[in-house]
Amino acid sequence: MDLVRPGDVLAKSVLWGDGQVLLAEGAVLNERTIARLKGLGILYVYVEDELTSDIRPEDFLELDERIRLISLHRGFLREMQRLYNRSKDPDSLVVPQEWREELSSRVKDLIKALRRCSSRMIEVFDIRPREDYIHNHPANVAVVAGAVGLYLKLPEEQLEALVLGSLLHDVGKIPFLEEALQEDRPLLFSPSPSMARHPRLGYEILRRSDLPLLSAHVPYGHHERFDGKGYPRGIKGEEIHPLARIAALANQYDLMTGGTFAHPPVRAEDAVEALMAMGDSVFDPRVLEAFVHVVAVYPRGVWVELNDGQRAVVVSNNRSLPLRPVVRPILKKGGKLIAGTSVDLAQHRNLVVRRVLPGIKRA
Ligand SMILES: [Fe+2]
Repeated sequence: MDLVRPGDVLAKSVLWGDGQVLLAEGAVLNERTIARLKGLGILYVYVEDELTSDIRPEDFLELDERIRLISLHRGFLREMQRLYNRSKDPDSLVVPQEWREELSSRVKDLIKALRRCSSRMIEVFDIRPREDYIHNHPANVAVVAGAVGLYLKLPEEQLEALVLGSLLHDVGKIPFLEEALQEDRPLLFSPSPSMARHPRLGYEILRRSDLPLLSAHVPYGHHERFDGKGYPRGIKGEEIHPLARIAALANQYDLMTGGTFAHPPVRAEDAVEALMAMGDSVFDPRVLEAFVHVVAVYPRGVWVELNDGQRAVVVSNNRSLPLRPVVRPILKKGGKLIAGTSVDLAQHRNLVVRRVLPGIKRA
């Protein structure tokens, strides 16, 4: 956002979580709209640029599929809050029958949609206001976890349980939602007592509701760490349910990139790098390996510096070699920036990405 100037043209719409357009593709930015976007906690936008005009950010999942998922979860959350407010008893909270049916049929549709886009990589979700994360977050965790599960070729029953459990991973926060929203941040080591309760509460709600045990393990284990330093049980490695290990990584990725009330968002590429750096101590190495084949380390349109000092823009990704994207060097000729010929780093093993650049000043 720091490099955006008045007069720049948006190349991708900025949306609210329910799919409503906040600022449409093609809009010309001015001082006021730039200040508004920054004020909403938006970290970056795509703008038109003649050097990169053919590199279009692409949504991973069809927008209408995401919107259906988000609005279903919104309705579910509202209903569960209403039920809780009636009894004020977390130990009697149950997911109503009609919601169980609705959720499991939506999960089946989502898995079909994920299969349709299984050759793509997740690059960026909707560019969204930070305040909207409560509605986007559960859907995004379900999408990332489902994509990782598909990559790992999980059997259908496990895949459905993973996606359902991921969509409901924070259902145990319902009794103290306001408090949880203020506290929610990635890799929290010492949660407040109520926050520390939400994984088990989530497990109990799902079990009491006769939802599959496999799904219930996802909320239960999504804050455990591979090294045993997570919560609520502090179990480690193989003791953590395999589906929960996938959801744990998907949850951290989306908390980082989307930001929460308590934590500013970071760019997708920085989040992936940070998660890779945490590596095996926090996450299951097998899940981490699958994750970088599914979520782009260097999303299209991102500026990078190569080890020979060239600056380049990422054109596309190699799913099999996630650290070796296709890049287009940007050269300076006669004081002007021009686009060079694209280079596939999978074919040029002497060239590597040294670091991600925040952007490039064009003047
Ligand atoms: Fe959580």
